Amino acid sequence: NLILRSSRTIGVLVPNIGNPFFSTFFRGIQKVCRQAHYLPIVFSASNDETSEKYYLGNLVERSVDGLIISSSSVTADTIDSILKPNHIPYLLFDRNQTHDDGDRLQVDDYQGGQLAAEHLIKLGHQRMVAVFPENLTNNLEKRLHGFTDELKKAGIHFNPKTDIVNAPLTKLGGYEHADEVLSKKATAVFCANDELAIGLYRGLHEHGIKIPEELSVMGYDNIDLAEYVTPKLTTIEQPILKLGETSAQLILKRINDLNMERQLVDVPVKLVERESTARPH
Ligand code: RIB
Repeated sequence: NLILRSSRTIGVLVPNIGNPFFSTFFRGIQKVCRQAHYLPIVFSASNDETSEKYYLGNLVERSVDGLIISSSSVTADTIDSILKPNHIPYLLFDRNQTHDDGDRLQVDDYQGGQLAAEHLIKLGHQRMVAVFPENLTNNLEKRLHGFTDELKKAGIHFNPKTDIVNAPLTKLGGYEHADEVLSKKATAVFCANDELAIGLYRGLHEHGIKIPEELSVMGYDNIDLAEYVTPKLTTIEQPILKLGETSAQLILKRINDLNMERQLVDVPVKLVERESTARPH
């Protein structure tokens, strides 16, 4: 009996709880769960498949009612072998795009990349560099493609082999790659997320580089911190809190009706123009 088995809990798997994107996302989930008298439990397994499996197995044993999965380390195999046979509803989000048939909340990453490129092109930049992790999850791949496709359309030369700096999506990642970014002699840099951009700020500052006079810096996400750094960060906004709320609404709907048709929700992004980008000098 499904009703008796309910523990009124929702498991939330995120790649990194230290990342403000995922903590704001969780805040949104919490808000909706609370109104519905559900308890969300968050797990951050730092991209480690074994821990993800451990947490998932435990949640299933404890009769979790549903799962929101945004880490890519929850593999298709794990979903098929643990969740599906136990009929546990799940919603995929962000970095997890393992299944094409389940419920999914997706943000238009391709459009986000395009908007970033469009903004920098409009300002007159011709020489751009992108800072992205080496192993791209599907969402980041789309983000980067949107960016490079837009440059191509505008006839701007961009060589993916030499014009992409590989760095993890962290402040340290940005900080440690400032040298490499500078060696590319670009006038603008597109960072895969805001945290990375903020780390890069510090590296650039230590090199005496002025943003945006000598280098325009563009982020992605619009985390709270983006408007508290100097100069305020120009970025692409994902409606993070809203994404958390919507995820919770979608999984709760699914829990209440296991047989309803697939829920596939698309969310647009938008440019937030602040002070870290300007015309090249
Ligand atoms: O900052 C976290 C980033 O990783 C976000 O851009 C999000 O979309 C994710 O995949």
